[in-house]
Amino acid sequence: MKKHILTLPGDGVGPEIMTGAKAVLEKIAKDFNHEFTFEDGLIGGAAYDATGTPLDDATLERAKNADAVLLGAVGGPKWDTIDKTLRPEQGLLKIRKELGLFANLRPIKVFDKLIPASPLKETIVSGTDILFVRELTGGLYFGRPSERRDGGNSVVDTLIYTKEEIERIVEYGFQAAKLRGGRLTSVDKANVLESSRMWREIVDAKSAEHPEVKVEHALVDSTAMKLITNPAHFDVVVTENLFGDILSDEASVITGSIGLLPSASLNSEGFGLYEPVHGSAPDIAGQNIVNPLAMILSAAMMLKYSFHLSEEAEAVEAAVDNALKDGIHTPDLDFEGGRKVGTEEMVEAVMSYIK
Ligand code: NAI
Ligand code: MG
Repeated sequence: MKKHILTLPGDGVGPEIMTGAKAVLEKIAKDFNHEFTFEDGLIGGAAYDATGTPLDDATLERAKNADAVLLGAVGGPKWDTIDKTLRPEQGLLKIRKELGLFANLRPIKVFDKLIPASPLKETIVSGTDILFVRELTGGLYFGRPSERRDGGNSVVDTLIYTKEEIERIVEYGFQAAKLRGGRLTSVDKANVLESSRMWREIVDAKSAEHPEVKVEHALVDSTAMKLITNPAHFDVVVTENLFGDILSDEASVITGSIGLLPSASLNSEGFGLYEPVHGSAPDIAGQNIVNPLAMILSAAMMLKYSFHLSEEAEAVEAAVDNALKDGIHTPDLDFEGGRKVGTEEMVEAVMSYIK
């Protein structure tokens, strides 16, 4: 299979982890007889420094013409004081919006070897395997007006969703549940918010179309508690933008390190952008200590969701699992025994476990 991938390393640790993910993909291409070509582009602070904008139209065009996009991370203290419309994260918001990437998938899975590294008790965390399906291009983060009023004495943000926007993300949640354990938790705040009441109606209507999926409605506040008391309860969780942002960050700490968590953002044509959940980690950039596994597992999600290469995706996931099982880990992971290695050695270890 021939695929063309746009890589946007971004800032901080972005370039280091991108180098690792590309090496792993090249190994997969060789072992499974595919041809992957890569093209590098600029986003975030790196793009601002070179072009004066965090994402230029030429790069956006190249993203649209690629088969998928891999992104590192953006941001850093260097750009904290520039005009807010030009800040690195604007590049990220722009590419998500322009490509229509409305479905953000964040799998939260515990690796057995890392259960002791979880802040939760072993008995609680074991068996956790959740897929968050978060709406990414609507809701409070994009609603207008969003402004100060009355000379700074009041402020407004706007939560707006169209019926179509809710329907497509909810439908995605049902489809994802069918491919997994068949259970869907829809999270809202229907006791207070009108937007949540409409969300619930749409979930109920979709539920009639997908009787094989077992659906439950849950309020966001009690879901926040249940993620800590009984994370293994959840299979697929579908929710709107803000709730999904907060709950998936909460769930991410259950697994022990943010350096392990991948994500995919998809549009209605199945086009995808893949990036680690963590940021640019400027405090550890350039030291060969960043954990490359979140980026590598994001590349595995690309193989699965964009290229439908499930066997290849599983080969990468199994290699990560086996490297950890043998105790090989970067310094961010709290391990008993095992062998502490740098970023480059971690990448090489994963490659050596791919068969
Ligand atoms: P962060 O995720 O970059 O780092 C938080 C902490 O986790 C740091 O101590 C960092 O060293 C550590 N860490 C993160 N990823 C790691 C990895 N793979 N291996 C080992 N340790 C890792 O979040 P923070 O510090 O809040 O933000 C730093 C910058 O990143 C900011 O400019 C922020 O705006 C940006 N950011 C970008 C995101 C993106 O590009 N999607 C998401 C979140 C933050
Ligand atoms: Mg977040």
